[in-house]
Amino acid sequence: MSVHKPFSTQFKRITTHRLFEMKQKGEKIAMLTGYDYSMAQMLDGAGIDIILVGDSASNVMAGNETTVPMSLDHMIYHASSVVKAVQRALVVVDMPFGTYQGNSRKALSSAIRVMKESGAHSVKMEGGSEIIDSVERVLSAGVPVMGHLGLTPQSIYKFGTYTVRAREEEEAEKLIEDAILLEKAGCFGIVLEKIPAKLATKVAQTVQIPIIGIGAGNGVDGQVLVIHDMLGITKAFSPRFLRRYADLDGIMTEAVQNYIQDVKSSDFPNEDECY
Ligand code: KIV
Repeated sequence: MSVHKPFSTQFKRITTHRLFEMKQKGEKIAMLTGYDYSMAQMLDGAGIDIILVGDSASNVMAGNETTVPMSLDHMIYHASSVVKAVQRALVVVDMPFGTYQGNSRKALSSAIRVMKESGAHSVKMEGGSEIIDSVERVLSAGVPVMGHLGLTPQSIYKFGTYTVRAREEEEAEKLIEDAILLEKAGCFGIVLEKIPAKLATKVAQTVQIPIIGIGAGNGVDGQVLVIHDMLGITKAFSPRFLRRYADLDGIMTEAVQNYIQDVKSSDFPNEDECY
């Protein structure tokens, strides 16, 4: 069981209300994914506003091709590791595929498990009108919900491709309606993934709640990236929207090669490194 300190006075915690204020003041919101204790400690210490325990853990941690295989137990495991490290950031946890769609009672019991067993602060669900019953029921229990529209990776087998969504007018109109619906239901924010920048800007201007973009341009209220992508740990994934802030794969590979060389040559450990 995690030790959760929601009212710690040491750091001013980021709350859903604070995010709302940030949007009103025009302060941008910085969000990154995190899946484990050490990385979450670094992210929180660096001052990130939101840590998303994304089901992208399926890809970057478990090596799966899609996010579909993630289970609630997997998500709770990652989320509880993150929560233990965090003193300031808001922790959002992805509800994995199959734990909320088409059954609002199941959605509620899944969300309650996430909150009770991980100590996280909120959940995220993919979809609009199709999942609104689940969103409303989870919110009715006092669990903060973040929406996710545009490219929703849990539906990859329906889309058949990870290409940009809502280029066509019909899909763009539905996306705007869904954003309004999620706001009316009481969601505290929405992630918009891989949609035209103009459409994302329109959504951010239409709703009062923060809109966090990934591949959705600069006219939204904040940005999110997958931590392994922005740090350059993943190399094969290179979409246009991704800015790499480091080449950790290169740095880590060199460090490991140097270690191997030192072990093989008996250079490590030296006298100072022995007891
Ligand atoms: O799972 C995830 O990392 C996400 C982001 C891409 C927004 O949902």
